Order: sequence, then C-alpha cells, then structure tokens
Amino acid sequence: MSDKIQIKDLDVIFGRRVKEAKKLVDQGLSKEEVLGKTGCTVAVNNANINIQEGEIFVVMGLSGSGKSTLLRCLNRLIEPTRGTVTLEDIDITKADSAKLRKLRREDMSMVFQHFGLLPHRTVASNVAFGLEINGYPEKERLEKAYKVIDTVGLKGYEEMMTGELSGGMQQRVGLARALANDPEIMLMDEAFSALDPLIRTNMQDELLTLQEKVKKTILFITHDLDEALKLGDRIAIMKDGMIVQTGSPEDILTKPADDYVRSFVENVDRGKIVTAGTVMFNNPERLRLKTAGPATAIRKMRAVGVTSLPVVDENNNFIGFVKDEDMVKLQNEGEKSIEGKVYKELNTVNENVAIADLLPLFLDSALNLAVVDDDNKLKGVVVHSSVIAEMLGKEQEEVKQIREDGLDNVNNEEGGNDNG
Ligand SMILES: Nc1ncnc2c1ncn2[C@@H]1O[C@H](COP(=O)(O)OP(=O)(O)OP(=O)(O)O)[C@@H](O)[C@H]1O
Ligand SMILES: [Mg+2]
Repeated sequence: MSDKIQIKDLDVIFGRRVKEAKKLVDQGLSKEEVLGKTGCTVAVNNANINIQEGEIFVVMGLSGSGKSTLLRCLNRLIEPTRGTVTLEDIDITKADSAKLRKLRREDMSMVFQHFGLLPHRTVASNVAFGLEINGYPEKERLEKAYKVIDTVGLKGYEEMMTGELSGGMQQRVGLARALANDPEIMLMDEAFSALDPLIRTNMQDELLTLQEKVKKTILFITHDLDEALKLGDRIAIMKDGMIVQTGSPEDILTKPADDYVRSFVENVDRGKIVTAGTVMFNNPERLRLKTAGPATAIRKMRAVGVTSLPVVDENNNFIGFVKDEDMVKLQNEGEKSIEGKVYKELNTVNENVAIADLLPLFLDSALNLAVVDDDNKLKGVVVHSSVIAEMLGKEQEEVKQIREDGLDNVNNEEGGNDNG
C-alpha cells in the first residue's frame, strides 16, 4: 500500500500572538505554558501522519486534544499555522481556491457527528445534494443516490423526510451522502458518537462491511478507545495537540509508548485484539519426525528449557507434539524413533486468531498450541502462560512471579507458622 495522505510537521495555533507562540512551542513549552504566556491555543503540535490508501486511520484522543482541528486541515476548513498536508502529489496547504473546491467536492467527503442533513428534504434529495452542487442532471444524481442508499441499507426509505428518521438512520443518510460522489477519501469526525450504544456498534460493523466493498481511505476521529481499536487499521493517539503514538491496535495495546497510552489501554479487553501471532514463540525449536530420535528430543528440550516440542515432516508441515517424559521412556527402552509417542490431530490456529479464542482450545489439551500458516507449515508455538500474561496485560515474567509468590504462600501455610 502506498501513502495517500501525508501530514508533515503540522502545527495549528489559535490566537493573536501566533508568532510568539510558535517560538515557545519550538522551545518545547507545553500547551498550558504557551496559553499562559501568549493567550494562544496550540491545537495541533508538530503532527506527522501518513495515511495509506484504503486504510481506516483513526485519531483517538480526549476532548480538546486537537482531533477535529487536525482533520479540518485536510480540506482546509482550518488553515495550518505551519507544516504541509499532501494528497498524493498535491500540496493541499498551497492549493488555490479552484483546486480546493475540487478537492472538497470530488476527492474528500465529510461525515459529521450531528449528521448535518436538511431535515425537510427527502433521503434521496439529501444524498444527491452534493451531486446537485456539482451540476449533475437530476436523473443521473437520483440514480446515483438510490444506489448508495441501497449500499448503506436504507432501500425503501428514499422518499422519507430525513427529519422523520431515527439517529442511526440519519447517520446512514450522512454516510450515503458522503459516498454519493464516490470520493477517494472520507473524513469522519466522531461520526457515531451521537448514537445510542447498540446502534453505534451496528454502525461500526456496517462501516467495516462497507469498507470491504468501497475501499476508501478513511480518517476516522473518535474519543472512544474501543471504537478506535475496532475500526482502525492504524491508530494515532493524540494528547494536547501532539501525536504520542501511532500503530496498529495490537501495537497500541502491547507496546504502549508511554504512561499516558498505558493508562488508556489498561482496561481494554485485550483478548479480542491481541492475536496468536503476537504471543507465540516465533520460529520455535522443532523435531523432524523422520530423523529425530528421543536423545535429540531430550537434548533440544533441555537446551531451550521446555517440556514439549513440535514435530514436523520434511516440508515443515506440523504433525504434533512430543513430551519430555515420553522421550525419556523411549530412550530407556532403547527406541531410536519418536514416532510412537507423537500427539497428533491437535488443534492448530492461524496467527490472526484472537487470543480469547485460544482459551477453549487449551481446555481441550494440556499441550501447547501450534500456530500454522494456510499450508499447515509451522510458524510458532503458543504456551498457556503467554496467553494469560497477555490477557492480564502483564509481562510473562510478572505472571511467573505471581504464580511463584502464590505457591510460596501455600507452602508457608502448609509449613505452619513457628514465629508467631
Ligand atoms: N476556532 C478556534 N479558536 C480557538 N481555539 C480553538 C478553535 N478551535 C479549537 N480550538 C481549541 O483547540 C484545541 C483543540 O480543539 P479540537 O476541537 O480540535 O479538539 P478535539 O480533540 O476535536 O475535541 P473534541 O473531542 O471535544 O471534539 C482545544 O483546546 C480548543 O479549545
Ligand atoms: Mg472534535
């Protein structure tokens, strides 16, 4: 994928003494300090973002962090104080008014939090509104409108007044209107924030389904972390005008850049986001079924410090696991092959499976879980404790320590208490 939009070194400062404020920002003063000294608000502070073609890029942050200001720099509803925004090879920050008009009408559409519809017009007329402005003849614009109304699931409502629709339906109209002139880019500012939770969830699901079909480049603004994690191919976390971290939902959860991000992600249900690919041991030690004997198995297990190992065929196809105790037995019996003691027909998973979905598989078997690709080639091994550690948002070492502390407590209690 290539970059569709590049936001480079972007500042937006509101107020009268912008020059002075800029200087202070450069000296590293905080938003509050700049406000105190100059009366200027630093809404966006040195933001750098690349949005790739066809992705949903989410900007997440608390109220006042600068999300809307950032978004509005893309179609120049707000003028950046410094920095550039480029759409492919067009420098939007330098676009003249004719170019800007084209950009707003053809290339980018906005979906607003409060829908921004004309309540006394029909659904079809609202959806066709942009096309009307662009001078499409009536027949053609209604044809297009009916098509996108169908796409957003409102078939049959074309001639209703939008004011008579529920919030969720109105936002579908908003979405349809944004889609009507088939823009490459959609700018969605808190588009679902005014909806009831259940309808909001539905709209999120539908946006994802829709996106599979239309493959727009979407900049989606939200202050809701769950929404960000669900919708975003990538997420930027904004604080006081600054981007503090950019990454995939999994990156944000598993590698928070600082305490601020960490405090955000603490209470997220990680099981649904973090995948087997993240918690697995990559490229694990393995045994070739045809060539490995019990002695090799034992030596390799000791070297890595594990009690089981995956077994593969000569093409690296996963076959099963062997356990240390069986290998010791085989060796004592003078067996040269491990074949008789391989646990086969086990569950395997793809690396994209969420770890919450691994738990039932662990119930089936005390063994580790093999991660394979679509051709059943072994990619990794997931052990129980890594999954538990990840679900709890702790380092695996930390979980080990908790377990050992727990055992110590049990042992102490069993040993009685001589000292008092
Ligand atoms: N036109 C303006 N003039 C002066 N200050 C502004 C203006 N627009 C926004 N601000 C300030 O810029 C900062 C960023 O505002 P912005 O609306 O971009 O935040 P936001 O992240 O979208 O917040 P919310 O989640 O509440 O929509 C805030 O401190 C705000 O008060
Ligand atoms: Mg906003």
